[in-house]
Amino acid sequence: MLSSKHILGMDDLTSDDIARVLETAESFAEVNQRRIKKLPTLRGLTVVNLFLEPSTRTRTSFEIAAKRLSADGINFTASASATVKGESLRDTAATLSAMNCDLVIIRHKYAGAPRILSEMMDCSIVNGGDGIHEHPTQALLDLYTMKGALGHLEGLRVGIVGDIAHSRVAGSLVPALRKVGATPVVIAPPTLLPSRPDVLGAEVAWDLDEQLPSLDVAYMLRVQMERSDGGMPFPSLREYARFYGMNARRLAAMKPEAIVMHPGPMNRGVEISADVADGDRSLVLTQVESGVAVRMAVMYLLLGGADSGVAA
Ligand code: NCD
Repeated sequence: MLSSKHILGMDDLTSDDIARVLETAESFAEVNQRRIKKLPTLRGLTVVNLFLEPSTRTRTSFEIAAKRLSADGINFTASASATVKGESLRDTAATLSAMNCDLVIIRHKYAGAPRILSEMMDCSIVNGGDGIHEHPTQALLDLYTMKGALGHLEGLRVGIVGDIAHSRVAGSLVPALRKVGATPVVIAPPTLLPSRPDVLGAEVAWDLDEQLPSLDVAYMLRVQMERSDGGMPFPSLREYARFYGMNARRLAAMKPEAIVMHPGPMNRGVEISADVADGDRSLVLTQVESGVAVRMAVMYLLLGGADSGVAA
């Protein structure tokens, strides 16, 4: 079990909870290597994917995770749901409650939508990304991936590079790293930092090249043009790539065992060059793979926990 019924943000998870999720995910990762990848653990339980903002990888990852645990998964997407017809989140919550679902994963363009849902429904709520706020399961799968590649989390120095201001991934990854004893360093031009970067609890740096030799992980973020209100927060994409893009030259300046990560979707040639993205020190696809195991672990611990008796 976890200490909270919901995962709305990293505040809901203690460092023990995080350790439990990562450990449970390891057993599920093993199941995911089998030919028959299905366990009866959550049979009879209903998991709703309420994705009211575009998403492919996160939605499919939750969907596969639910299926592998034998839960009944229902997808609500923005275009298919009544929200485009003007239904409020409150009405959607009431409708879902009336259907007696056990877990809702919500992605929403507004920060705080998962919390509103948790106040209106009895079931568990997992935040699948809310506006520019948090994306806790992404942070968990990133910790899992780092631990798998580097053997430990404590003491790692992780550079989170790029569009921090608009990144819910950074919003969860910074506190997640702190909880496991790693050091997050946000590296970005001032126009891509929030107005008070110090409240994030990360070290703040502007010069990527200066930081590279001391990093264990370079975590590259997508430049979120869709959240920039039309104006570019830097002179040109080429200039951005020149100062903040990961490329072969920069990779060579890192420790030999250091790794490169990206939550996807990637803008190849902007925040990461194609050769690095496809190279052997990039963990982009490992992150996707870990995502399924980690989301299985989250669902298992929220819904079944130790009582279900069908651990992996
Ligand atoms: C991220 C997201 O949607 O917040 N992607 C993801 O979940 N894999 C990051 C992004 O959109 O850049």
